Amino acid sequence: MTEILRPDMAGIDRAATLLRSGGLVAIPTETVYGLAADACNGAAVARIYAAKGRPSFNPLIVHVADADDARRYGVWSDLAEILATAFWPGPLTLVLPLAPDHGLSSLVTAGLDSVALRVPALDMAQQVLRAFGGPVAAPSANPSGRISATTAQHVLDGLSGRIDAVLDGGPCPVGLESTIIGLNHPRPTLLRAGGLPVEAIEAALGETIDVANGAEIIAPGQLASHYAPNARVRLNALSAEPDEVLLGFGPIEGDLNLSPSGDLIEAAAQLFDHLHALDAMNKPIAVAPVPDHGLGRAINDRLRRAAAPR
Ligand code: TXA
Ligand code: MG
Repeated sequence: MTEILRPDMAGIDRAATLLRSGGLVAIPTETVYGLAADACNGAAVARIYAAKGRPSFNPLIVHVADADDARRYGVWSDLAEILATAFWPGPLTLVLPLAPDHGLSSLVTAGLDSVALRVPALDMAQQVLRAFGGPVAAPSANPSGRISATTAQHVLDGLSGRIDAVLDGGPCPVGLESTIIGLNHPRPTLLRAGGLPVEAIEAALGETIDVANGAEIIAPGQLASHYAPNARVRLNALSAEPDEVLLGFGPIEGDLNLSPSGDLIEAAAQLFDHLHALDAMNKPIAVAPVPDHGLGRAINDRLRRAAAPR
């Protein structure tokens, strides 16, 4: 059952309570409805992918209440300061190098060393962020492959029964996703065109920005080279060869185990942390079989990329 929350104090409190307990709440923003979860809770973030039926782990945007909060998660720069001052709160997302001690789930960033940050302007979104008091991961609140939701009814049409609640704040005023600018490149780069015109960004910066190749999104999660361990990766291993370390799942124990009980949500939440930890051991990595249903599809997608020849 998906609760429908009204845009009042009780609704906002309920949304914050659900987020604190690892739940999924669709919230309105000025761009589109976001499917929100606690960005520091790996299992909660894993449930976002499960609810959307996403076949791969693309990094998600982290929503915060203001630029001071954003600085805790992304490494700040002069360009970040200019753009944040000009356009936050608003339909702009900045990709910054990940700050030390950020505390975010590695699933939010899909194991990358950068993070996408946004300060939404809509009052309802601001109130939820302040009531919750932490960073919120929120992709658009639609099933994978479907168009973004700009009303609570759109959210329910796609996700009813798959998420804990939707906060009904009426139609989203912008109706287009945020513009994404990468500031982790040598020059500022447009990663996704969106609700904030590029011309406005160039005017604020006093320079033109590069446009990333590809008409729509550079989704780093879709590149084979995106997160590749240094080590060779061997899939569907029932045991380790003498020189290998083993990433286990379920009864195949391993040096580290994605989920001893065979829970795919837990496995997704652990995936990038465990791959990084095993990679640091500088040995080839054998990986136990992971069932190819539900979140297992996205896990296997990522494991196949890690194992791809390069
Ligand atoms: O308007 C919006 O931005 C909406 C509302 C809900 O705020 N949110 C949204 O989130 O569209 P999401 O998670 O669907 O956007 C994810 C996109 C990815 O496809 C990727 O292109 C980009 O953000 N992204 C996230 N992290 C990135 C990173 N570290 N480097 C490059 N791109 C990143
Ligand atoms: Mg989307």
